[in-house]
Amino acid sequence: MKNNKEKIKINEIEIEQINESHKSVISTFKSYEKELVDFLVEDALDNQKKQMSTTYLWFLKSKRELVAYVTVLSDAISLQGELKEHFRQQGILYKSLPALKIGRLCVSDEYLGRSTGTLMIEFTMVLAQRISKEIGLRFITTDAKRNPDPRKDSVHFYKKFGFEILRQREKGTLPMYKDLIKE
Ligand SMILES: CC(C)(COP(=O)(O)OP(=O)(O)OC[C@H]1O[C@@H](n2cnc3c(N)ncnc32)[C@H](O)[C@@H]1OP(=O)(O)O)[C@@H](O)C(=O)NCCC(=O)NCCS
Repeated sequence: MKNNKEKIKINEIEIEQINESHKSVISTFKSYEKELVDFLVEDALDNQKKQMSTTYLWFLKSKRELVAYVTVLSDAISLQGELKEHFRQQGILYKSLPALKIGRLCVSDEYLGRSTGTLMIEFTMVLAQRISKEIGLRFITTDAKRNPDPRKDSVHFYKKFGFEILRQREKGTLPMYKDLIKE
């Protein structure tokens, strides 16, 4: 996924929640993960209107180009196995705990390997910490997309940021979580 292009910095980015005016720009978005393009073009705005998820579009200010997007929604982790035991030892006996889910996260093919993915994870962590001051929120969750090519397998990407595997699953995604207050 690496190329020699320069890293993108957060001050070069403009972040906007998706709205009607973005319809034509989202049709230019390209990714090797076709399902993530289809979601952006067909469902992201509709889902947001129905308050089922919120999509943040990332534009490169200088060119007004759509570089990436991240979609978030609320979630809960049901505590099982080791994780249940871990929280029991801390006196937390609930069956589930609240989370913010990264529903979709995608960088356009042209901008891969220039740190936008990293910046979007940081953005999500800041968002989660902010929300946690208003309502209870303990985890970030995601269903990481598997890819037979290890350079495209997003599980490795999420592990870099401290995400752990929640449970094994044989389908094309792997549920992962990050504890917001784990030292
Ligand atoms: C995963 C994805 C978001 C990463 O975005 P990116 O901007 O290219 O990532 P960054 O440049 O911030 O890379 C950060 C680190 O993760 C690594 N990395 C990037 N993409 C990776 C991937 N798909 N698999 C494994 N590692 C990856 C990079 O090599 C880099 O490592 P380093 O810090 O050791 O140099 C991007 O590849 C993508 O959009 N893929 C298609 C959609 C997808 O799989 N989304 C995630 C699941 S929904």
